[in-house]
Amino acid sequence: MSVKIAPSLLAADFGNLQRDVEMVNQSEADWHHIDVMDGVFVPNISYGMPVVKAIAEYATKPLDVHLMIVDPDRYIKNFATLGAEILTVHYEACTHLHRTLQAIKAEGMKTGVALNPHTSVNLLEDTIRDIDLVCLMSVNPGFGGQSFIENTYTKVRALKELIVSKNSNTLIEIDGGVTSINAKSLRDAGADVLVAGSFVFKSANPTQTISDLKQIAG
Ligand code: DX5
Ligand code: ZN
Repeated sequence: MSVKIAPSLLAADFGNLQRDVEMVNQSEADWHHIDVMDGVFVPNISYGMPVVKAIAEYATKPLDVHLMIVDPDRYIKNFATLGAEILTVHYEACTHLHRTLQAIKAEGMKTGVALNPHTSVNLLEDTIRDIDLVCLMSVNPGFGGQSFIENTYTKVRALKELIVSKNSNTLIEIDGGVTSINAKSLRDAGADVLVAGSFVFKSANPTQTISDLKQIAG
């Protein structure tokens, strides 16, 4: 399987959201990455249901929804209704992660768990077989355009080992500071999905940048 690219619409031009969603549709990207921030779990507020609904209306690829919010259980049904294919919650925001994962599955979505840079992958030892995707944060969540944290490579390798040892099919996604400089090394370490916001949308030719990332990572 080749690497999946998930452009993060957080870096899109919100005044031309339809145009940018359609750019992703027509590109070699695999998923639309959608970042929801509540200003409590993270210091920033991004967008909520009405904007996700507008994105869903134009998007033709799977919606990879990343919730950076406290108590995400309250909104699982809403995101299922909006058409999320993967719903990712933060490990740090879930007191009863196992229950949350079952609730996501019960709504027919794939389960995702995101880990902040300080959170060890070993904490997923007992839930990994219930997780379709682990999103390793390679920046502190809350903002686009930050620099990649180098310790992420160690985490990718450790997570890959855990997944293999538990005979699980979990995908590894990397989110934050992904560029053409680190894409190949991340892939070699075991990453399956690369999220890229600024690197794609701030480039002169986003469609070409998506294609280049896919090519480089392989
Ligand atoms: C950060 C978000 C990311 C962000 C990545 O909190 O989860 O998805 O948009 O942006 P870049 O690629 O610019 O670091
Ligand atoms: Zn994200």
